[in-house]
Amino acid sequence: MKKLWGGRFTKTAEEWVDEFGASISFDQELVLEDLDGSLAHVAMLSQCGIISADDATLITKGLHSLKEKAENEQLQYSVKLEDIHLNLESQLTEMIGPVGGKLHTGRSRNDQVATDMHLYLRKQTENIIDLIEEMQGALLTQAKAHVETIMPGYTHMQRAQPISFAHHLMAYFWMLERDKERYQESLKRINLSPLGAGALAGTTFPIDRELTAELLGFNGIYENSLDAVSDRDFILEFLSASSILMMHLSRLGEEIILWSSQEFRFIELDDAFSTGSSIMPQKKNPDMAELIRGKTGRVYGNLMGLLTVLKGLPLAYNKDMQEDKEGMFDTVKTVTGSLKIFAGMIETMKVHHAQMESATKNDFSNATELADYLSGKGIPFRESHEIVGQLVLTCVNKQCYLADLTLAEFKEAHPLFESDIYEVLNPVTAVKRRNSAGGTGFEQIRLALQKAEAKLKAR
Ligand code: ARG
Repeated sequence: MKKLWGGRFTKTAEEWVDEFGASISFDQELVLEDLDGSLAHVAMLSQCGIISADDATLITKGLHSLKEKAENEQLQYSVKLEDIHLNLESQLTEMIGPVGGKLHTGRSRNDQVATDMHLYLRKQTENIIDLIEEMQGALLTQAKAHVETIMPGYTHMQRAQPISFAHHLMAYFWMLERDKERYQESLKRINLSPLGAGALAGTTFPIDRELTAELLGFNGIYENSLDAVSDRDFILEFLSASSILMMHLSRLGEEIILWSSQEFRFIELDDAFSTGSSIMPQKKNPDMAELIRGKTGRVYGNLMGLLTVLKGLPLAYNKDMQEDKEGMFDTVKTVTGSLKIFAGMIETMKVHHAQMESATKNDFSNATELADYLSGKGIPFRESHEIVGQLVLTCVNKQCYLADLTLAEFKEAHPLFESDIYEVLNPVTAVKRRNSAGGTGFEQIRLALQKAEAKLKAR
């Protein structure tokens, strides 16, 4: 097979060398974007009078029929043709004859591949934003059902203060909201057209870059042709937003793994999102949550990989940049899959509220209530803290909890304690009373749920 740059060469490369340099095994993912880019380019060439209207019609027809074949997965690629761009051009020329060779007028694979990547990432980012919203919807639904479900809140993985399960779930809603904002913000820069930058320096043909940008739905064009073909910041931004998102999913995954353990028994995952053991019949493993926790590593790796590829690259295009693709495709697949799994997992999980609530009773997570009680009566908080600390110590020695102490014992610790102290110690009261903005108090949660719902509807 003759290379497209055959003119300059006297020898052909060995097959294994070709294979090493080729990207077709993975960049075929860009087939539709490549064809759309070409369709816009040829329309512009014709409108600017660079090629004839007849030639443009022929080429456009050919591109459309390639598109149809691509959609039906009927295209076959050759590794000898290196990448998706050369494969498609060669198939076009095979189909419509030498006029196909006019498509590449005023264009280089360097601006072509950059255009494909922008188009691809725009589509994927929009899809990911939708999937984030689906997961937020699942969190919201569970949260609404569990405003008054009390659980221990933790710091240092030690029971700290009782909270509402809805409040805990909604913490993830707001993390995802920031993730969504990061992707939305990055769309601004994804949605710029590098097309028309040529190999690096622009072109001698009287092209119209604004026109191709408009035809492809871009918001504008890169100002500098060198930057246009060598910029991969938009992929880095995608990988970095994805890394942060995956970190969030991994944290929630970890909690789900803990909560569904026999030690906690706070939730039970639906069978659809669990697996059994090949040897231990009793097991129900939170495999999907674990796998997503694990897959977070590969997304971080993809970010580090591309940062490292780009570091030290002189302008403009260098073949190193072909390495931008696999990590990006892999991240798209990982993030979209993880979000879908999580939405389903959250939606279908069973919440053992009695178990959660009883966990708040047999501990000292109501100790702060007691200190706040005294401080509410004018005792400086530091002093209250000390008094309650001693009461906790008394309980530890007596092997009981605070609510088991008699009023006389409370009074002995401080005369300001009254019989209403038992109501204050009730974990439900403790949660209800935390009504400061953004706190776990039921009223605050209901407000937060309304705000969250409005956020989701706003789009
Ligand atoms: N397959 C190449 C890539 O992915 C396309 C651009 C090649 N350009 C070039 N001048 N070799 O980066």
